[in-house]
Amino acid sequence: MSLCNFRVFDSPEAAARVLASEVGELIRSRAGEGRQVVLGLATGNTPLPFYRELARLHREEGLSFSNVTTFNLDEYLGLPREHAESYWTFMHRNLLDHIDVPAGNVNLPSGTVPEADIPAHCADYEARIREAGGLDFQLLGIGRTGHIGFNEPGSPKDSRTRRIHLDEITRQDAAPAFGGIGNVPTHAVTMGCGTILEARRIVLLAWGSKKASIVREALRGPVNDQVSASFLQEHPNAVFYLDREAAAELI
Ligand code: F6R
Repeated sequence: MSLCNFRVFDSPEAAARVLASEVGELIRSRAGEGRQVVLGLATGNTPLPFYRELARLHREEGLSFSNVTTFNLDEYLGLPREHAESYWTFMHRNLLDHIDVPAGNVNLPSGTVPEADIPAHCADYEARIREAGGLDFQLLGIGRTGHIGFNEPGSPKDSRTRRIHLDEITRQDAAPAFGGIGNVPTHAVTMGCGTILEARRIVLLAWGSKKASIVREALRGPVNDQVSASFLQEHPNAVFYLDREAAAELI
């Protein structure tokens, strides 16, 4: 039996409001205890309404992120931070420039680490997550291949942060943003499934009819490495927040 549940909302914005208020509550209650919160963050189109709502909570409701440490799931290999499509740029443009997370608390894998140094860089990323106390909360989207992070089909359940070859479907989905598939990187560094599954709470967001069949596979299909999101079925505190279109094949 799957441990993983789902909630259906009228719109992405409605889901984002509920999730941002939950995360805001976690941040505030930890701040009250003088403790840090460690958030695992995602990029892509899906989290944008959530990031807009977090920025609004900061701007209009005084939510401070001064006790927050962030770790992003992944970064394209070959892109310097300042590249328009790097996840470093994405996170700053869409969230980090609008809140008060201390710059030293922001962690993303490097897209420019020399190939020979990638294993050490990945081991260091894992060590930094551990030293921060582990991920309190991990935000996820889902790719058409069923990937979480960039854990493409074939990624073992116990995989750790590493270099990964991007699936052609994932590269095609990224092609418009890069102005053609030829410009899309072929590799990335991603947290592993094992890294993600150690988070104490996980929320996967998915919107729109294009995600409906992979959402069904992830929640109702067999648990195996062909759909890395299916591993969430075995997590004791993971939930999918969906709009009606993405949930259409579940109900
Ligand atoms: C992003 C990530 C990916 C995306 C997924 C969905 O950091 O790791 O797993 O969440 O590819 O992307 P969008 O949201 O653009 O549909």
